[in-house]
Amino acid sequence: MALTAIKGFNDILPGESGRWHYIEEAARRVFELNGFSEIRVPVMEKTELFCRSIGDATDIVEKEMYSFTDKGDNSITLRPEGTAGVMRAYIEHKLHALDPVAKLYYLGPMFRYERPQKGRYRQFHQIGAEITGVHDPLVDAQVLNMLTAFFHEIGLDEPSLQINSLGCPECRPAYRAALCSFLEERMGELCEDCRRRFSTNPLRALDCKVPGCIQATVGAPSVLEHLCAGCDDHFSAVRSYLDLAETPYSINSRMVRGLDYYTRTTFEMVTTQLGSQSAVAAGGRYDGLIQQLGGPAIPGIGFAMGVERIALLLGQREFASLPDLFIATMGAGERNAAFKLMDGLLKAGVRVEMDYEGKSLKSQMRRADKLKARFSVVIGGNEVASGSAAFKRMSDGIVTEASLTVAGFEAVLAQGRGDLHQYSTAPVSEQ
Ligand code: HAM
Repeated sequence: MALTAIKGFNDILPGESGRWHYIEEAARRVFELNGFSEIRVPVMEKTELFCRSIGDATDIVEKEMYSFTDKGDNSITLRPEGTAGVMRAYIEHKLHALDPVAKLYYLGPMFRYERPQKGRYRQFHQIGAEITGVHDPLVDAQVLNMLTAFFHEIGLDEPSLQINSLGCPECRPAYRAALCSFLEERMGELCEDCRRRFSTNPLRALDCKVPGCIQATVGAPSVLEHLCAGCDDHFSAVRSYLDLAETPYSINSRMVRGLDYYTRTTFEMVTTQLGSQSAVAAGGRYDGLIQQLGGPAIPGIGFAMGVERIALLLGQREFASLPDLFIATMGAGERNAAFKLMDGLLKAGVRVEMDYEGKSLKSQMRRADKLKARFSVVIGGNEVASGSAAFKRMSDGIVTEASLTVAGFEAVLAQGRGDLHQYSTAPVSEQ
């Protein structure tokens, strides 16, 4: 039987990786502009870390973790998300002693045993950012502006930002009680999952996708009407900072997150283009998490974006890095000259391809087309003898005679033909 990848685990093939570089490079640019530095943490952690942070009663911890016992009898889990590991590292290395305000970003694979479908996988990739040490709502707005700026940077006007506040340990119990008494009267209409979660995680009924639950929760009490004065002021201030920056958003008071560590501001970037996998990025404040994990009482806020979902939104635009020149030869006698030109151009940072297999001129030119080279040149006996050749611009067939040297090809490029292909910094179709 042929060996295949594990269900829900994907290969990112060469045709696709240009899109990934484009996304990752844009994120690094935008995050570093905002003062964030990269942190790299392990893909596996002690299982207890995720139980204590994400919460025992969440779907992730209850049903979706890849956990196993290692040869030393330790319970280990492949990380289902990034925040817990990053905060574990922040506490373990006492980054707060250097400066409680840390701005950290990370990217890499995460693992959840979910039912795979378009936009939902068992190994998926997140790019996330976290800021610790600031209570001020200004920082919530900065995080949201940075997220908005990222989508602008990659040229997407979808997804759109939705925000909510989930209150704090002071005001949430009263909200939970109000919601529970509302749900209790409609228990018969709720799905089995929501009934099961009623005592551990009743808020999840608000974002259940089962039609009966959507119907049953119409008119449910709003968390925003149960915020304490501190949380209410915080949420108003976040909104007024967003208004000040003219960042578009809408309020979704039914948004509840699938992780327990959130307090106050929560948010999602949502799209209608990916079916039920509508969240392209999501996050919020977690003011109690660092202390809960054994660190000092330092607040935090952050988000993670799903790279596969962003790649799907970017669609079929081509992000490959294409050659600037394809060198064809008439025959074996010109291979030395072709190889020398290619070597010189590569050393000068020009992307070049040549024929490796001594194919016919016709098939070499087909390959130049297939590779989408910007220019081609054919080297025959006359070209070798004269030391110059005709460089053809493939888009319109315009030919420029120049010497068969690095300087010669650079002169061709310099004739008002724009820059070399930039490596994955913009979709090729827009260059
Ligand atoms: P999350 O909402 O669980 O939050 O995941 C964030 C994003 O990861 C989602 O919006 C989605 O784009 C992507 N994602 C999640 N699961 C999958 C999957 N199975 N397949 C493909 N993409 C997926 C967190 O993980 C929090 N740690 C975010 C955060 C950071 N909150 C504060 N800081």
